[in-house]
Amino acid sequence: MTVGIPIRRLWPEPSTQPLDDAALTALYGRADKPRLRMNFVASLDGAVTVDGYSAGLSGEPDKRVFGLLRMVCDALVVAAGTLRHEGYRAVRLNERRRAWRRANGLAEYPTLVVVSGSLDLDPAQAAFADAPTRPVVLTHADADPPPGLTDVADVLRCGAERVDLAAGLAELHRRGLTQLLCEGGPHLFGALTAADLVDELCLTVSPLLAGPGPGRITAGDAAPPRHLPLRHVLAAEDGVLLLRHARP
Ligand SMILES: NC(=O)c1ccc[n+]([C@@H]2O[C@H](COP(=O)([O-])OP(=O)(O)OC[C@H]3O[C@@H](n4cnc5c(N)ncnc54)[C@H](OP(=O)(O)O)[C@@H]3O)[C@@H](O)[C@H]2O)c1
Repeated sequence: MTVGIPIRRLWPEPSTQPLDDAALTALYGRADKPRLRMNFVASLDGAVTVDGYSAGLSGEPDKRVFGLLRMVCDALVVAAGTLRHEGYRAVRLNERRRAWRRANGLAEYPTLVVVSGSLDLDPAQAAFADAPTRPVVLTHADADPPPGLTDVADVLRCGAERVDLAAGLAELHRRGLTQLLCEGGPHLFGALTAADLVDELCLTVSPLLAGPGPGRITAGDAAPPRHLPLRHVLAAEDGVLLLRHARP
């Protein structure tokens, strides 16, 4: 079934027909080994937000792929900054997407994994309080959880004074969560890049000049450049580009 604004493949092998959800799912899919996939939306001139939020960059094609990426993952990893700022709610999938997960032997919903050094988290936030699957909070040994957090989430400690992201991902893999989708934000992406843990970037390019001011999709300390080859280019009829870059 094709819904909304048509999306076609430009590269490789251009498609004349719009891609339905089954075709898009096949293009993004799951890997046969552990994988960390990042998903971001940016403006043409590289902004990560408009008026402080990602919503001004996103449209129906981006939301459609965003939902499909959530559908195919085991865990949805997000930094505490983005969780707080964007007011993350509980992960929800419609019945069609839950049915796809059941048919593919997956849990009904992906597990939310929140990365935080400070544990400045609100257990009453819907992302925790209404979660259909108990979330995981990835932090370090020195962090003190606020009252109530351990009632609504598993607190996983990796690293002494700061989060050891490589150890954290390895522990998620050990728990059977191997297909990881990370929705940012920029500081977490920067740290994951620095640790050379990023296998894939799905980037939506919005046909918009946001102008000076907003940050980029990555932030934090400098890290060596990493080459990430292009895998596909999709275009939506409203001028949005959907790029997938992944390690060989
Ligand atoms: N365009 C997009 O696709 C997109 C996607 C996501 C976010 N955004 C935007 O990005 C902005 C948020 O960016 P941000 O700079 O706040 O970045 P962020 O990476 O979302 O959040 C930073 C916070 O997350 C936690 N964190 C991140 N990396 C960590 C690490 N390696 N170890 C331990 N904790 C870590 C820390 O939380 P604690 O303070 O709890 O220690 C840190 O203060 C918002 O404006 C949001 O709208 C845009």
